[in-house]
Amino acid sequence: MSQLLLGQTLGFIDNPWLTPAEDAVRHIRHGAVLIDGGRILEVGAADALKAAHPQASITDHGSALIMAGFVDSHAHFPQTAIIASWGKRLIDWLNTYTFPEESRFGDSAYAAKVAETYLDLNLSNGITTACAFCTIHPESVDAYFEASQKRGLRMLGGKVMMDRNAPDSLRDTAQSGYDESKALLQKWHGQTRLSYTITPRFAPTSTPAQLEATGALWAEHPDCLMQTHLSEQHEELAWVKELFPDQADYLAVYEHFGLLGPGAVMGHSIYLSDREWDALRDAGASIAHCPTSNAFIGSGLFHATRSHALGIRTGLATDVGGGSSFSMLRTMASAYEIGQLRGDALHPAQLLYMATVGSAEALHIGDKVGNLEAGKEADIVVLDLASTPVIRQRVAKAESLWEALFPTLMLGDDRAIEAVYIAGKRHIS
Ligand code: GUN
Ligand code: ZN
Repeated sequence: MSQLLLGQTLGFIDNPWLTPAEDAVRHIRHGAVLIDGGRILEVGAADALKAAHPQASITDHGSALIMAGFVDSHAHFPQTAIIASWGKRLIDWLNTYTFPEESRFGDSAYAAKVAETYLDLNLSNGITTACAFCTIHPESVDAYFEASQKRGLRMLGGKVMMDRNAPDSLRDTAQSGYDESKALLQKWHGQTRLSYTITPRFAPTSTPAQLEATGALWAEHPDCLMQTHLSEQHEELAWVKELFPDQADYLAVYEHFGLLGPGAVMGHSIYLSDREWDALRDAGASIAHCPTSNAFIGSGLFHATRSHALGIRTGLATDVGGGSSFSMLRTMASAYEIGQLRGDALHPAQLLYMATVGSAEALHIGDKVGNLEAGKEADIVVLDLASTPVIRQRVAKAESLWEALFPTLMLGDDRAIEAVYIAGKRHIS
């Protein structure tokens, strides 16, 4: 049976990084979304859609904003329990908090428990799709995809591969990393709404032999994405130089092993040379911008404007648990602040675009999710634009959509998430 959601609707008809915001969005103040069979059939004026579909069930969200669910283009589900751990730079942070926690994920019961918590937190924050790193343990991948499948979610992820510079309990080998990844890929890729993502953690934790095997695996399965980390902190860059002295720069390491291509999703990508920017663009690779993480771990200021100007598919990402929040609203606020520190005042339409269409395109699922328009899967978030006293008093005098929306982007959190729909079904948390 078809259903109509009523409220303000917001979708993108163009890219606000390339077109003025007013021309890039379709906003209907008294709008409606017609859904059937898990898909959006139409977005239009409420009166017209109600008249045309008198048999549809109606859910009225009043003046709340109906838009595409948020898409998190880079996260680590096994780091849920260590989010917001104090102090340290990246390498220390990995050794002190991350690796001990990730060591626990060979235990299927523990992995399942954290996967449930992770997805519940995502959904309470309006994140309907994410691309996550699991751990080296196949059990962690099974737990992640089983929990995702149970909720009917479109999710991406994969087994981390690392065979050096990590504790014994967290190392695979070039061969076992390849074999296990291949088996998991064959088990999960394309099942229901799930996609397997080939996942070498980052250059310092893989031997050349492992990177080579990973490149071979990707060449055999080019329909899968490949995700990793690139150029996040100065110490990491120096380490990569020391480990791979023959390569011209950090990106060249991935290029050398066949790990640069249109399906590559590079987390962070803060300290890129002109050559690396151009090589990413030429390869058609994607970047996941992780602003709360880059601030929290003290990594640096990603150049979002340059990335978009080059035409690089650029998504927004929580990078939980180096990132300090599950909220895509907090993540947009952080992206705004990082823009300000670079001298770029990002428009709210640009922030929302990165959190939805941008991330979906970065993950090559822009034809399926990430926008409120006919034909897309009905993964939807409904935002209350007056969710707290401070936001309420701030928006009381708003005279435009952007004035009404910006306070929620800067000050909002999970209290602003009025409803979430997964393939047209309302999620009850
Ligand atoms: N680089 C390699 N692994 C990680 C990780 O887990 N988090 C972050 N932020 N950076 C990384
Ligand atoms: Zn990461």
